[in-house]
Amino acid sequence: MKGPESRARMWRGAIQQVLISEAELHRRIQVLGQAITTDYQGKDLIFVAVIRGALMFSADLARAVDLPLRLDCIALSSYGDRHVSSGHIRIYKDLSENIAGKHVLIIEDIVDTGLTLQYLWSHLMSRHPANLNVCALLDKRARRQVMLPIKYTGFDVPDAFVVGYGLDYQQRYRNLPFIGILRPEVFGQEGRYG
Ligand code: PRP
Repeated sequence: MKGPESRARMWRGAIQQVLISEAELHRRIQVLGQAITTDYQGKDLIFVAVIRGALMFSADLARAVDLPLRLDCIALSSYGDRHVSSGHIRIYKDLSENIAGKHVLIIEDIVDTGLTLQYLWSHLMSRHPANLNVCALLDKRARRQVMLPIKYTGFDVPDAFVVGYGLDYQQRYRNLPFIGILRPEVFGQEGRYG
């Protein structure tokens, strides 16, 4: 078994800085889970996890909520393997559950431009949920183009290329147990942050 020390070393070449540690993620997710538990008492709650990015967050958050919620997922992508949002959102996998009349909570790993959330919001509203809200682990407000209400936020993050705990660069680094800033030399010539 490799401990946290050797795991941290494994990523050192790619990560410039650990922005949010594993322990900080855990603590904040417990707080979010308690708030959701209180707010949704007696409600028919469905988590809609936006994958792949929200895989880790939704799994941990669901276990921090003390309610018999349903867990569904939707696979969207606007970035592909690039690190600048294309603004062209595609659905790879739609919902399995009928959300009409249900209390739906969108679970996102990050809200950046807001274009993905804008698309998803109207897609889900067209299915007539009783109520629709958003829980985002990370909020990168500096790059917002579309403002939508985010009911629960884990952390505000700066305009840097963040990876780990579900977030990727070219499909890699999702399995980091923390949120880190990618070294600029890793994304090289492509220009902007994602
Ligand atoms: C990421 C992230 C959000 C979206 C946020 O998904 O998971 O869904 O981008 O960006 P925006 O606010 O600028 O629209 P991505 O398209 O990279 O797919 P992934 O979930 O598979 O990582």
